[in-house]
Amino acid sequence: MKAKVVSNKEVSPGLFRLSLAGGERLTTGRPGQFVMVRGVWGADPLLSRPFSVYRYRSSIDVDGTIQLLIKRVGRGTELFSRVVPGEELTVQGPLGNGFPKIDVSGRLFLAGGGIGVAPMMSVAESLAGEELKRTRLIFGGKAVNDVSGIDEDISDVGVETIFVTEDGGRGRAGTVVDVLKDELTPSDVVFACGPREMLRAVATLAGEKDCRAFISHEERMACGVGLCLGCAVPKASGEYALTCTDGPVFVAQSILWEEL
Ligand SMILES: Cc1cc2nc3c(=O)[nH]c(=O)nc-3n(C[C@H](O)[C@H](O)[C@H](O)COP(=O)(O)OP(=O)(O)OC[C@H]3O[C@@H](n4cnc5c(N)ncnc54)[C@H](O)[C@@H]3O)c2cc1C
Ligand code: FES
Repeated sequence: MKAKVVSNKEVSPGLFRLSLAGGERLTTGRPGQFVMVRGVWGADPLLSRPFSVYRYRSSIDVDGTIQLLIKRVGRGTELFSRVVPGEELTVQGPLGNGFPKIDVSGRLFLAGGGIGVAPMMSVAESLAGEELKRTRLIFGGKAVNDVSGIDEDISDVGVETIFVTEDGGRGRAGTVVDVLKDELTPSDVVFACGPREMLRAVATLAGEKDCRAFISHEERMACGVGLCLGCAVPKASGEYALTCTDGPVFVAQSILWEEL
C-alpha cells in the first residue's frame, strides 16, 4: 500500500521519528509486528527495509497513522531520514508475529537495547491500568545519545522507565542485562529487543531465574513474507524458523543461540 509521510523529525542525532498515514489497516497490527518500507527511489536500494512499529496510537498524529523510530545506519535509512511530509512511501504490513498477550502475575520488563526500544514502546502503549503500573521499560545503550530523543513519548505512554548506560552518562551505569539480573523474579516476564549479544544474555538469564522471556529477533530481510528464506534462524528443536513469518518474536530459549 502507499502511505503518506505526515512528519519526519530527528529526535536525537541520527534517530528519526517517521509518521506514516496509510489508513486503518496499517494501525490494526500487534505490538512487535513490523512493516517493510521502501521509497519511490528506483533501484538503489532495491529492497524494502524492515522496521518495527514504534507507535500504533499517538496523540500527535492523524487517524490511520503509525510511527516508526529509525536509526540511520546505511543507504536505506539515510534516504528515510530525508523524506518530507507529503512524500509517498510503499509500506507492506504490519507483518510477522508480535509479542503475545499473556497473563503476568509479577512484573513485565520491556528491555530495549538502543533502537530495540522501538517495539517495546508499542507494547507499553497497548497496556493500561494495573498492567501498565506493573510494567517497567528498561532503555539501555552505550552512552547518553543512545537513550535520548523519546522522553516525550515515554511520558505520553506513561510507562515507568529505568535508563541505563554503559558509561553512566544517563541513569544507572551498566547494561540492560545488569538491571534484569537485579530485578527479575520467577513471576516476572521479559520482552526484549536489541543487539544479538544482549538477547542471548537475556535468554540465558531467564533460564537461570526461571522466568518467561520473549525476544524480537532482527535478521536482515529481503522479502519479509516467507519467500526468499533469507531470514532463517536455527531453533533449539533442530528445525529452522523464518524470522519474518514465524517471528520476529520468539520464546527466548527456543532459539539455538550457539549457532547464530
Ligand atoms: C523485524 C525487524 C525490525 C526492525 N526494526 C527496526 C526499527 O524499529 N528501527 C530501526 O532503525 N531499525 C530496525 N530494524 C533494522 C533495520 O531494518 C536496518 O537498520 C535497516 O534495514 C538498515 O538499512 P540500511 O539500508 O540503512 O543499511 P544497510 O546499508 O543495508 O546496512 C548498514 C549496516 O547495518 C547493518 N544491518 C542492516 N540490517 C540489519 C539488521 N536487520 N540487523 C542488524 N544489522 C543490520 C548492516 O550489516 C550494515 O552494517 C529492524 C530489522 C528487523 C528485521
Ligand atoms: S525475509 Fe524472505 S523469507 Fe524472511
